[in-house]
Amino acid sequence: MGGDPRGVVHGRSATQLTYDLSRALAKGTGGRPWGPGDEVVVTELDHDANVRPWIQAAEASGATVRWLRLDPATADLDLTALDDVVTERTRLVAVAGASNLLGTMPDVARIAARAHAVGALVHVDAVHLAAHAAIDLAALGADLLVLSPYKLFGPHCAALVADPALLETIRPDKLAPSTDAVPERFELGTLPYELLAGVTAAVDFLAGLGARGGSRRERILDAHARIHAHELRLRGRVEEGLRALGDRLVLHSIAARRTPTLFLTPTRVDAADAYRALLAHDLLVPAGSFYAQEPFRALATGAPGGLRIGLAAYTDDAEVDRLLAGLDAVL
Ligand SMILES: Cc1ncc(COP(=O)(O)O)c(C=O)c1O
Repeated sequence: MGGDPRGVVHGRSATQLTYDLSRALAKGTGGRPWGPGDEVVVTELDHDANVRPWIQAAEASGATVRWLRLDPATADLDLTALDDVVTERTRLVAVAGASNLLGTMPDVARIAARAHAVGALVHVDAVHLAAHAAIDLAALGADLLVLSPYKLFGPHCAALVADPALLETIRPDKLAPSTDAVPERFELGTLPYELLAGVTAAVDFLAGLGARGGSRRERILDAHARIHAHELRLRGRVEEGLRALGDRLVLHSIAARRTPTLFLTPTRVDAADAYRALLAHDLLVPAGSFYAQEPFRALATGAPGGLRIGLAAYTDDAEVDRLLAGLDAVL
């Protein structure tokens, strides 16, 4: 992640880590708790795991919630309002590294620059991003970042990554006999070491996809460059195939910068029916809104859900052929 190992907090899931962090941050960094007059900024692009914990922590502390809105016409955050939404009152901005619904990779660095200019912290949900890109905390401008290794071929646990000096200023609720040291201060109870062994194996697997030689970080960066090229090529093929289906679907994933994750609304069939029909073709194209309640609402599709196509490092051309044939048959 480009972080400091002493700033890595292990947890059960990104949701759990974000909930714990939101409550601890609301108690204040360096002793200044959130309260009336303070503001917390969330976005309409985010998975609910990076929305609801912040809203609830803000409400409990008397702070106000402000929103960065999603523009369905670009499938990206509307940053024209950035300076109005992120102000001297802002204590924290919570934003996705990438949307698990649309794939959109918003301009986190720009949002972080504004947040830092007004003295606010930036919390990045990198769960979806980490599945498709190498993470660099400094490049993102993230003060705090969560990810879940199950999105990168590992087991389901999660990590919060931050500057240890920042973590030192946060005082989570913890048991009396447990250590006050960072990062252990944030890790409630005994860690699942068997899962962490799986995380190491997954990271080594990822590094193994990169060029030999160099540090593990360098091999991971190279692996992600290769994965990106592979996924981008396949995404181009899928998009071409979707265009050929004409008005049988509306494709919502249109942002300039995005992962190979394509969210669409079928126009002639119900998404849930299409999902089941595609299973019969041995294709997993799940239907729903994928806990991305806010972006799904903002898209205002008028349907109860849509279909999500996800490509990964291991997806191949034959699978793309089968996907496009299946979609043609079902939609
Ligand atoms: C963008 C994003 N954030 C958060 C989560 C929640 O992760 P976890 O299940 O580890 O809480 C997900 C899971 O799909 C996700 O895609």
